[in-house]
Amino acid sequence: MTEPILQARGLVKRYGRVTALAGADLDLLPGEILAVIGDNGAGKSSLIKALCGAVVPDEGEILLDGIPVSFSTPVDARTAGIETVHQSLAVAPSLDIAANLFLGRELRRKGVLGSVLRMLDRNGMREEAKKQLDALGIMTIQNPGQAVETLSGGQRQAVAVARAAAFGSRVVIMDEPTAALGVRESRAVLDLVLQVRERGLPVILISHNMPHVFEVADRVHIQRLGRRKAVVDPKSISMSDAVAIMTGAMEVPEEAA
Ligand SMILES: Nc1ncnc2c1ncn2[C@@H]1O[C@H](COP(=O)(O)OP(=O)(O)O)[C@@H](O)[C@H]1O
Ligand SMILES: [Mg+2]
Repeated sequence: MTEPILQARGLVKRYGRVTALAGADLDLLPGEILAVIGDNGAGKSSLIKALCGAVVPDEGEILLDGIPVSFSTPVDARTAGIETVHQSLAVAPSLDIAANLFLGRELRRKGVLGSVLRMLDRNGMREEAKKQLDALGIMTIQNPGQAVETLSGGQRQAVAVARAAAFGSRVVIMDEPTAALGVRESRAVLDLVLQVRERGLPVILISHNMPHVFEVADRVHIQRLGRRKAVVDPKSISMSDAVAIMTGAMEVPEEAA
């Protein structure tokens, strides 16, 4: 069996009386798109936040390449190569596209200008941003010096996805990246997800959109009541059965497990 790149074992996360994660497991295999589906409140975002250091679980462990890791902040996870696009989009609207791409890891000018005066290498960042966005095929963004607030929802999301795709060296995680987008914009984001996989990076994709999930996912993790209820092969189960397992209307059939 191939060793998972990223694993969660028995994660528990409580918020006061609410148990968001009740012993959740997850396995992400090399090079795959793993979709995570589940009803509202099933603990999908909590699971992802634990994997990317945004929340520290009360119990359980996370393993990267089979080695236990403990992320106390998102920076820890990013340093380990895990990039995340959160459900609530985290871009800085008044900054330009290049600045958003490099948020938190700005390039400095060479020499004392950068090391002592902390001056930013804006041209370098714009050039690099243009390269990254071109590589991801976001042709509609002409000028990386354009402020993000002037972009459409889809283009903003593309910047967030591009940032994750550009800097994720091990794993890219996306929490409902198309939830607020139109049909065409969703398509562009889905194409980016596929391109990330083509580059050999595994992706965890949380989505409510079953046609999207069934189109791109290699495997589907079904989250229910804070736990992994099943992992199914989208080629051997129908969308309606996957949804029925998700809502508890149906048990997991043996051939889908
Ligand atoms: N910061 C928080 N404070 C209190 N309760 C929370 C918090 N985050 C999540 N929860 C609760 O935990 C449960 C799981 O939430 P979440 O992980 O966001 O689920 P999902 O992403 O599947 O909709 C929900 O009942 C939610 O209300
Ligand atoms: Mg969520």
